[in-house]
Amino acid sequence: MDTSDLIPPSPSEDDYEQERRAQEAFSVDEDQGKVFTSDDPLELFAQWLELAKKHEVNDAHAMSVATVDGAGFPNVRVVLLKDLDEGFVFYTNSMSAKGDELAENPLAALCFHWKSIRRQVRIRGLVEPVSEAENDQYFASRARSAQIGAWASQQSRPMTEEGILQKRVEDYEAIYEGRDVRRPDWWRGYRVTPSQMEFWVNRPFRLHDRLQFDYDGEGWNKTRLYP
Ligand SMILES: Cc1cc2nc3c(=O)[nH]c(=O)nc-3n(C[C@H](O)[C@H](O)[C@H](O)COP(=O)(O)O)c2cc1C
Repeated sequence: MDTSDLIPPSPSEDDYEQERRAQEAFSVDEDQGKVFTSDDPLELFAQWLELAKKHEVNDAHAMSVATVDGAGFPNVRVVLLKDLDEGFVFYTNSMSAKGDELAENPLAALCFHWKSIRRQVRIRGLVEPVSEAENDQYFASRARSAQIGAWASQQSRPMTEEGILQKRVEDYEAIYEGRDVRRPDWWRGYRVTPSQMEFWVNRPFRLHDRLQFDYDGEGWNKTRLYP
């Protein structure tokens, strides 16, 4: 397989110049060059997500979630951000690989990369399960087919039989026919409460802007980082 066209060569000076002009045009239209528009990182994140939502083709609220197992082996996958309050909430199957890893090591790192606006946000923090009330409320808000799907999928475990997933969907449809679908105990949310957040903006010539926030137990401290 010839992969030479798949990965572009490093940008030339001309490419950088074009990128600079595109960035300048974007900055004038969208953010007037001001990107770090709040001293509160959660507020700043919300502002960036709002901008990303306008520009991304889909799933601006998709984030990579990195976890580490008991042996220190990292793992990463994409999930959807479902709530944003004092933390970042996602929902999943707690018997999945990520559920096992979080049970062993309740720490995570998150990463949002919005290609359309050329920005990245990284988050690190402690992970706690959301309350049962939040779990139930979120599960109840899902489409019935997704609720059935939660029962049918044994997320991350080997699927050894052809057609078994569809069969399990039909089985659970029959079980719940004519009544509300109960939330499986193992389908739940996790809240990542940030202790560090870093905001990155693409700038010309790879001289990107980075701003890191660290929580010291009382408030957030800001530090600019070299690109
Ligand atoms: C855009 C996108 C959104 C996803 N959203 C979720 C989600 O909200 N919850 C979830 O459990 N898996 C989601 N997935 C699937 C996960 O990436 C992953 O395949 C699954 O959770 C199993 O991960 P694990 O084996 O590491 O536990 C999503 C995948 C993509 C690409």
